[in-house]
Amino acid sequence: MPDRDQEFVEVSIEEFATGKPVPYAIYIRLTSWKYLQIASPGDGLDRERVDVYRDRNVKCLYLLKEDFARYVGFAVGPSAIAPPAGTVPPPTAAVPAPQPPPRPAAPLKPAIAHQVNLLKNAASGTLSLLKSNGINEFLFEASKDFVQSTISVLADDQNALQLLSAINTQQAQNPLYEHSVGVTLYSIMLARVLGWRSAPNFFKLGMGAMLHDIGFNSMDDKLMAKREFDLTPAERKQREQHAEWGAQILKQLTSVPPEVLAIALQHHEHVSGKGYPKGLKSAQINPMSKIVAVADRFCELVLDGPDSPRLSPESALQQLFDADAYDADVLSALKRLLKNLP
Ligand SMILES: [Fe+2]
Repeated sequence: MPDRDQEFVEVSIEEFATGKPVPYAIYIRLTSWKYLQIASPGDGLDRERVDVYRDRNVKCLYLLKEDFARYVGFAVGPSAIAPPAGTVPPPTAAVPAPQPPPRPAAPLKPAIAHQVNLLKNAASGTLSLLKSNGINEFLFEASKDFVQSTISVLADDQNALQLLSAINTQQAQNPLYEHSVGVTLYSIMLARVLGWRSAPNFFKLGMGAMLHDIGFNSMDDKLMAKREFDLTPAERKQREQHAEWGAQILKQLTSVPPEVLAIALQHHEHVSGKGYPKGLKSAQINPMSKIVAVADRFCELVLDGPDSPRLSPESALQQLFDADAYDADVLSALKRLLKNLP
């Protein structure tokens, strides 16, 4: 029987709990080759049916991948400007060439399907490590599913797949992919706590969080291997260029919404105006960048710890509050997210 897992993405059952009609067919997964359609396009699921599935311990429902991409507003398809095989585009200020109309997504070739599986499995390992911290179970599971579905849909775009694969080098010294998955999960959880509900916004936020540090990929390995506090002022300046480089790399790709560029460019801006690269003040910083900034620093302190011992979530939270750098609403969302801490 042919494996159909590549055709579908998981969506938390909580996404359907409102009973609102969904313009796509909804499925449950019986086995890797058998998916059963339980709602037709436009029907949705009423609350009672959602409760029945919950009682049967069903945590996720499934949409066809192309329907999910449409659901979150992502135009999957080959990009107009293809970087050379095995590389990411070099940072350049060149204006992108005019783009041809999108073509339908082609079926995944086995090598690509293997690459996508590697990415999903690596993300899955990181996501399960992040399960501690006393975070609300439903919020965690729904956000985790969204991260996996975001990766799965992004990977259908050949350049996005190349970028994701470039940061998933699986080297012990390069935990960029793990960090990016962690930042994506926390960004989506924070947005949920802040009351965001729009799937397209979750997707843009997730895509930006996954690729926020992509500029590091064009940076010298020796510079990347240095610990933060061993950097000279000149090296620090060079490292800080990753924000602008990242935005320039993403600018060359089709299907990248402006919010994603803003996240790459602004995730080190501080509301005090003392961040980089432009020293923007709070009102000038994109709301998605403010969320990713908090998730990024929190993950650095709690999860990665390459430069110093890992902090407890409480100490990391305190450090973020003391920094005079982050948006007050996002910080209070992080506090609420972590409220179940001992
Ligand atoms: Fe960064």
